[in-house]
Amino acid sequence: MEWANFWFEMDEHGIIFNLVKPLVRFFDQMPEMSLVAADFVLQEAQEAVQNSGRFSLALSGGSTPRELYQLLSQPRFSHAFPWDKTHIFWGDERWTPKNNPDSNFLMVQDALLSKAPLSKSQIHPIETEGIKAEKSAEEYEKLLRDFFAKKPGFDLMLLGIGPDGHTASIFPNGPALDEETRWVLSVPAPEGILPRVPRITLTFPIINLSKKILFLSGIKDKEKVIDDILGARSALPASRVQAQEETHFFIQGKKDS
Ligand code: 6PG
Repeated sequence: MEWANFWFEMDEHGIIFNLVKPLVRFFDQMPEMSLVAADFVLQEAQEAVQNSGRFSLALSGGSTPRELYQLLSQPRFSHAFPWDKTHIFWGDERWTPKNNPDSNFLMVQDALLSKAPLSKSQIHPIETEGIKAEKSAEEYEKLLRDFFAKKPGFDLMLLGIGPDGHTASIFPNGPALDEETRWVLSVPAPEGILPRVPRITLTFPIINLSKKILFLSGIKDKEKVIDDILGARSALPASRVQAQEETHFFIQGKKDS
């Protein structure tokens, strides 16, 4: 049963409130999804700067968002983007040096930061060199709390979905799953998920303070996981994400009918 933005589910125990229905769009091809996502990010950036004078954007890692980041660096988006008012953060990072191919920072650096007119003071990477992982997590949390002194929460957070339903580096049965106070944790290498390195990850307490969240994912090898997450009937990590205003899902690939 659907009513306005409220979405009810019935089961043998009665009504299960799912307060906000996810906003889901399926795309045939990745380039089309990336293009719509780039326009979405640009709109959010312009709106945030108009409303608050700045735009705080948390980026996801992995492979899916690379094309989106490349598009944002191209004139048709870059020329209209309020770069001078934008601050870039990461939702998680692999515990590798910044010049390692597994680094989420390196992926974003190559795809976007090397071309966008951003000063170092606007780019906030998670430190992974010359520091212990736990200290890096503590320092990133301090950086976030100082940045969000008044009203915590990114204007927009991009997230991916792993084949096991993880998001950021919050893995099923992982130590970050049930965290309720810390905003940033250092977690061990995940089982069966590449790259098998420790991670630094943001946690639900700060993720769910985001005004808006956009999930970007291909459906290949993730069909069941994505079905469960969109059905909000799962305890998978990505199912526990709920933005303050809107949670969007852009999914590429055809669902098997
Ligand atoms: C990471 C990401 C991770 C990613 C998913 C999906 O550091 O790997 O933050 O959460 O978004 O694993 O990755 P793909 O986009 O490569 O499928």
